Formats: sequence, C-alpha cells, structure tokens
Amino acid sequence: MEYSEGDIINDHIEPHRDLFKRINHKSVIEFGLGVGTQFFLDNCEFVTSVELFTKDKELAAKLHISNETWMGKFKEKFAEYEWEVIGHECSQEIIDAELDVTGYGKVQREGNPTSDAYKKEIHELVDKVLKKHYDYAFVDAGSHLRGDIINELFDKVDVIGAHDTNNKLIYGYGRIIVPSNYRVEENPSGCGITFWIKK
Ligand SMILES: C[S@@+](CC[C@H](N)C(=O)[O-])C[C@H]1O[C@@H](n2cnc3c(N)ncnc32)[C@H](O)[C@@H]1O
Repeated sequence: MEYSEGDIINDHIEPHRDLFKRINHKSVIEFGLGVGTQFFLDNCEFVTSVELFTKDKELAAKLHISNETWMGKFKEKFAEYEWEVIGHECSQEIIDAELDVTGYGKVQREGNPTSDAYKKEIHELVDKVLKKHYDYAFVDAGSHLRGDIINELFDKVDVIGAHDTNNKLIYGYGRIIVPSNYRVEENPSGCGITFWIKK
C-alpha cells in the first residue's frame, strides 16, 4: 500500500522504513492503532495493537482519546490480516490524569498529573501486553500519557519509537527518564519521531 506523502498522521512511515532497513523488526507492539498500522501489518510477521479507550463517547471526544468505535473501525478495515488487538478500558485513575494534562483537571494543560495513581495501571498494562518478545514498540496512542508508557517499555523492548515528539509537553514526553543503556535518535521531520535504541 502507498502512504500519502506529507500526511501528518502518517509522517512516521518514512522514518520507520529507514529504521526497518537498519534493524530487522519481525514483531511489533504499537500503542494506538490507526491508518499507519498497515505499515506494520505489511512489514512484520507479528503485530499487536493496544488501544486505550473509554466507553464514554462524550469524555473520549473531550479528551481526544478513543472510544470503542475506533478499534472496531480498524479491525474491520484490516480484517484480511491476522493480528492482535488489545483494548484497554481506562480506569478512573487514568481518566483523572488525562483530565489533568489536557487542562480539565487540577493542572494546566500540558503539565504533569497531580497524582501518580495512574502509573500503577500503566505498569500493569505494559506487563500484561508484553507476554511475548517484541523487537519493536511504537507509542502513538491518543492518550497523553505516552511518556509514562515509554518509561515502562525500557529494558523490556530493545527498540522503542514514539510519534509527535517535537512537542515534549502534550504527550508527557518530558517525563521520560532514559536509562544509560539506551541511545536516543531524534528525527524532527513532520510531527517528529524519536527512537530509543538499546546500546
Ligand atoms: C492519531 S492516531 C494514530 C494511530 C496510528 N499509529 C497511525 O499512525 O495511524 C492515535 C490515536 O488517536 C486516537 N484517535 C485519533 N482520531 C480519533 C477519532 N476520530 N476518534 C477516536 N479516536 C481517535 C486513537 O486513540 C488513536 O489510537
């Protein structure tokens, strides 16, 4: 499949093509599925997509996170592929953190959540979905807690990528603590994509 040049949502495809030429990625886990998922389906042997969602459609729209419809839409779109889709319904702790960092809660937009309570759930979710070995993990979820997901992936997956990294605040990338055994590759084109690669 051809991906349209300059498509802002899919501007991670070219950096991924380049990464995949350099590093062989047979199995991929992504957080946040969408049109770009097809690149992994076409280029990897095993793909798992994890989607954080809320059943409350109004809340989902307010927070710009997904409701169940999003997963259903892409399961249908990519029905010809064999892949794994794991939906995770966000608990109130995650919703509270999302409300905080999107400016509806107790902190101003793009700040840190007022409570760390959501981190336990992110930790448990990453533990739960990493049942097998993945060569690569890509974080492009609607959730604004992406930085926290990445922190949980260090030393569990050797190569980690994230989208929209030119702005470090919106998705909590400022909370990332890079371990000394990972090197960072920043690609600022488009919305920005960053790779953390185990040395
Ligand atoms: C921008 S999409 C990108 C997903 C994928 N990595 C790609 O490249 O296509 C990231 C997330 O935004 C959320 N999202 C984007 N548009 C949405 C919509 N119209 N309705 C519900 N959720 C949406 C979903 O949670 C989705 O996983």
